[in-house]
Amino acid sequence: MARLKVAVLISGRGSNLAALIEACAAPGFPAEIITVISNEPDAYGLKRARAAGIAATIVNHSAFPSRAEFEAALGEAIRAAGAELVCLAGFMRLLSEGFAREWRDRLINIHPSLLPAFRGLNTHARMIEAGVRFAGCTVHFVRTEMDAGPIIVQAAVPVRQDDTPETLAERTLAAEHRIYPLALRLIAEGRVRVVHEVVHIDGAAPAEAVVLNPLEA
Ligand code: GRF
Repeated sequence: MARLKVAVLISGRGSNLAALIEACAAPGFPAEIITVISNEPDAYGLKRARAAGIAATIVNHSAFPSRAEFEAALGEAIRAAGAELVCLAGFMRLLSEGFAREWRDRLINIHPSLLPAFRGLNTHARMIEAGVRFAGCTVHFVRTEMDAGPIIVQAAVPVRQDDTPETLAERTLAAEHRIYPLALRLIAEGRVRVVHEVVHIDGAAPAEAVVLNPLEA
């Protein structure tokens, strides 16, 4: 079967990109990354892409007079590559309603919290401040509202009493690197449907576990 063609959009480090590259390299994985696009010319993720032999291009937002023109160029680069799905992986520009509409249910993002809690930036510091026992991460379809949209996969990550935003981010990142490839695989296998803004996954086992977080686990 043909593999799903994926564009990954980044702005920086690209560790989620690296997790997706590694997953796609496994024999039989149903998706392939055909292009990586960064809005930041110095994004480290560009190096990761090129090292893996993937076409990597820069669409620098500051080179365009308006967001509409930036997004037009972005869309053109994605279409020219022949992408069928767009994965945002640490892509730090807000996309307009028109872009989200054009790519509806073909545009996904990863966010470092259990959405819909803690949308926006600095999630780890805000979660520690709020005293939540579980942090986590979410892969979701993108809608026009920031960090909103049907949830595909989530992972819960325990918060420890002595966590700093950095240690919590590090533990969360390890979970991100597992759920992003999982979400991509489920989509590429054609098992993900959005029904009334809720994601149904064909063949998914019902969740059974109840996990208590004793904080010091
Ligand atoms: C990740 O924490 C991701 O959830 C958020 O931005 C960060 C990107 O990290 N959207 P990386 O560039 O993938 O290493």
